[in-house]
Amino acid sequence: MGVLSAKLITLLSVFAAAGVANGRIISRADGLDSFVQKQRALSLQNVLNNIGPDGSRAPGAGAGVIIASPSTVNPDYFYTWTRDAALTMKMIIDEFLLGEEQLKSYIEDYIHSQAILQTVTNPSGTFLPNGAGIGEPKYNVDLTRFNGAWGRPQRDGPALRAVALIAYSNWLISNGQEERAKTVVWPVISNDLSYVGQYWNSTGFDIWEEVLGSSFFATQNQLRALVEGNTLAKSIGVQCTGCDQAPQVACFLNEAFWNGEYFTANINSDLGRTGKDAHTVIGAISVFDINASCDDASIQPCNSRSLSNFKAFVDSFRNSTLYPINEGIPPTEGIALGRYTEDVYFDGNPWYLITASAAEYLYDALAQWTVQGSLTIDETSLAFFRDIYPAARTQTYTPNDKCSEFPGILAAVTKYAESFVAVFEKYTPEDGSLAEQFNKTSPFNPTSATDLTWSYAAFVSMAERRAGQYPPSWVPVSGSATLPDQCASGSTKGTYTPAIAAGAPDVNVTCTSNVRFEVNATTYFGENILVAGNTTDLGTWDVSNAWPLDASGYTDQRPLWAATIALTAGETTNYVYVRQQDCGQGPIWESSTANRTLVIPPCDPDADPDAVLVVTDDAWQGPTGSSGGC
Ligand code: NOJ
Ligand code: NOJ
Repeated sequence: MGVLSAKLITLLSVFAAAGVANGRIISRADGLDSFVQKQRALSLQNVLNNIGPDGSRAPGAGAGVIIASPSTVNPDYFYTWTRDAALTMKMIIDEFLLGEEQLKSYIEDYIHSQAILQTVTNPSGTFLPNGAGIGEPKYNVDLTRFNGAWGRPQRDGPALRAVALIAYSNWLISNGQEERAKTVVWPVISNDLSYVGQYWNSTGFDIWEEVLGSSFFATQNQLRALVEGNTLAKSIGVQCTGCDQAPQVACFLNEAFWNGEYFTANINSDLGRTGKDAHTVIGAISVFDINASCDDASIQPCNSRSLSNFKAFVDSFRNSTLYPINEGIPPTEGIALGRYTEDVYFDGNPWYLITASAAEYLYDALAQWTVQGSLTIDETSLAFFRDIYPAARTQTYTPNDKCSEFPGILAAVTKYAESFVAVFEKYTPEDGSLAEQFNKTSPFNPTSATDLTWSYAAFVSMAERRAGQYPPSWVPVSGSATLPDQCASGSTKGTYTPAIAAGAPDVNVTCTSNVRFEVNATTYFGENILVAGNTTDLGTWDVSNAWPLDASGYTDQRPLWAATIALTAGETTNYVYVRQQDCGQGPIWESSTANRTLVIPPCDPDADPDAVLVVTDDAWQGPTGSSGGC
């Protein structure tokens, strides 16, 4: 503790020097301090409002379930995403470690809810025997599966959840509760690490749920999860299945994404995008360790390539045709930032969480240089520094330099960080509510999901860094990994066990059987067929939770729509097919005469998990649809 506060004091004195060195009082004195203080408290409260069972905006959500947003239409975000929830929980745990003791029950509830979720059979797969279901991106708020079409699986979620739970386990260990860490929390973490070790090398959908490929963000967090998972396992004397993959993950992270100027966000996919993407910045702050070296394999904010990447990403939004909101802002100042310039989701606007993340990123790098007492500019990072400190040269700067350039550069970076916060403040409504996005065009109003949990969480973490508050270190003193001479693909088969002590059901005794739904239904181009049913598995007659069938076997001879679905063995199911119309037209259900019933056969835990036990042979009974012609 002593060491950290000493460092903190150094950092603060650098900041203080910054204000003077610049000859003008930097934006802190312009009221940013009071904005940040007020917005931080408000944001934390708004996060809690989005958590079940008692959150005021999360009615019906289970205990510890973090909803993405209370918005139920346009867009419908009233679900829980593994990624959003884990990043939010990491912030909550960090706040708890900083003294917010009332947050403990949220953490405990979260652990319980995640132990259950891990076991829920869903369209990504089942929990047993191969963990595939853990890669499901989102669930209903009552912890049942969501069947609708989605970009799945997403492989960042399990890694992020492990990272959050490891932070809490470390606290338990230092507070005399090692046994609890070992018997209750570790089993949840272990399933997630197994998943990471088994699937890091398989493609999945990215953080924005759009691109099937390999993502920088997922890989970076997978590395962190395996490295600190390994440290935790050793300290409590258990085996970590999957952690042995860390050096290969590190190799992939370092070798595969860098293009000489920035990290291409998604590879192994055919995108037609530049690959400059906010997720490389969000990745850097989620692996941040104040004590890590700038050369660490995890690619920290102070890393030269990461700084070059930051500049490339930010500059891509310095385009007033694309982003009128940023018109006239010089390269020395922060701007409003979106996901990537080609984005069209809700017209592709700036996001609160991304603009906050840019500031957080800079505070992280500042803290690292301050702790290290030196800053090395090389060819790779030179352009980043030149924008904000024109005299920057390729050399190592230290606080003892004659010309006081070290504090000067830190002051410039601080000022730059502050200017992103000022942009954030400018577009935050009076009441402090944070949606997902704010319009890139005048009058720059908030848009897309309201009260986005992640927007609030991102603000709190940024405010922590701005206040000189840092999460515990995770990078081992020897570095996060030594890269092998040659990168190789790898995978360690995971071991998956329901985390019963944390509240998971014993899914060893309730198992699923695969049913293949096949129906002949002639459709027009743009129309889809879904199967809906009375059971939770089939979405309890909710069409937005019905299962989309696949038309890959559709021919002129046989208009086949089909899907193989894992259903709870022994259940009696009523089901019908539904036509999902184009152009926003409502669905068309089969006639009530269809009245289909199926008894799901008992399962055989020893059989091939992909074996299909029943195939329906149905024909659509009811009206046909017609295209809305849009
Ligand atoms: C919903 C996803 O959450 C969002 O990230 C994506 O842009 C849209 N679907 C469009 O694919
Ligand atoms: C869309 C975002 O692209 C994705 O990252 C997020 O998980 C969901 N919305 C829910 O907030």
